[in-house]
Amino acid sequence: MSDMKESLLALRDRFDKEIEQIKDSDAAEKMRVAYLGKKGSLTQVLRGMGGLTPEERPEVGKVANDVRTHMEEFLEQVTNQIKTFESSKKLEREKIDVTLPYKFNGAGARHPLNMAINEICDIFLGLGYSIGEGPEVEYDKYNFELLRIPEGHPARDTQDTFYINDNILLRTQTSGMQIRIMEQTKPPIKVICPGKVYRSDALDSTHSPVFHQIEGLVVDKGVTMGDLVGSLRLFAKKLFGDNTEIRLRPHHFPFTEPSVEVDLTCWSCGGCGCRVCKNEGWIEVLGAGMVHPEVLSNCGIDPEVYSGFAFGIGVERTAMGRYGIDDIRLLYENDVRFLEQFK
Ligand code: PHE
Repeated sequence: MSDMKESLLALRDRFDKEIEQIKDSDAAEKMRVAYLGKKGSLTQVLRGMGGLTPEERPEVGKVANDVRTHMEEFLEQVTNQIKTFESSKKLEREKIDVTLPYKFNGAGARHPLNMAINEICDIFLGLGYSIGEGPEVEYDKYNFELLRIPEGHPARDTQDTFYINDNILLRTQTSGMQIRIMEQTKPPIKVICPGKVYRSDALDSTHSPVFHQIEGLVVDKGVTMGDLVGSLRLFAKKLFGDNTEIRLRPHHFPFTEPSVEVDLTCWSCGGCGCRVCKNEGWIEVLGAGMVHPEVLSNCGIDPEVYSGFAFGIGVERTAMGRYGIDDIRLLYENDVRFLEQFK
């Protein structure tokens, strides 16, 4: 019997020494298996209990239990310490030093094109217009067909674009929004639609294959050319100052009748003639006209009851005039030295 007791106590001493060396939770788990597992040393010693007399058994049993409890408690304690230590190490490793100085790149500013769009939209919002938006990838029928530009129409040559397939293209004008809006809304309609448009033009100082327009559309009973002229005159004065006048020149757009091109008093010379306006005193900024009766009926609006006007403002040209920019390419190059000037 004393043999068994001794080997239990010896096992305990060995355990105590070994556990001192433990450095991580893996090693602790290995020790648990080695001593307390099914094939562990303690279990092996206890197998010998069968050879004991019934008198000896309780006494040895008690020692065995004490040793097991001792081992279990000790292991748990050490495992907990190791876990705490390991997680604090982990936190230490993952620490972020928020006091590190960083390089300040400077606050950005609104792009001059967006400034112009905002300025123009603000003016029309003040006149009671709402703002609409539509897709840049557009169906042929909205960009051309329902605007009275059928296949083979010469306007398709001057507005050549990028085709996704036979029916889908990158829109060449925001005028398709006239159709989309009239299909969806009953008059009275009073809306402007800013957006990007595309044409397969080469890039030079005044042309870009991607540019911006703002479409305006008003449809109601009794809308006249006089309303169009009044609205555009107000717009010109609000944007470029009280001395700005507008000049209408007869023109042709398939979807308006009559149609006009609208010039504004040159913002550079005030109308006397200079390099910017090529000595004209005027600068062309938009196209406009009375919505063609066929376009109204294409959208289910009775042209005998309703009439309307539409206009399309070139944003780039307006922005260039408004902010004194002499090359359209500057607007797309995103050179900070240029953009910084608009802070
Ligand atoms: N969409 C025409 C263009 O891009 C401009 C326009 C708009 C003309 C609305 C009349 C009415 O040239």
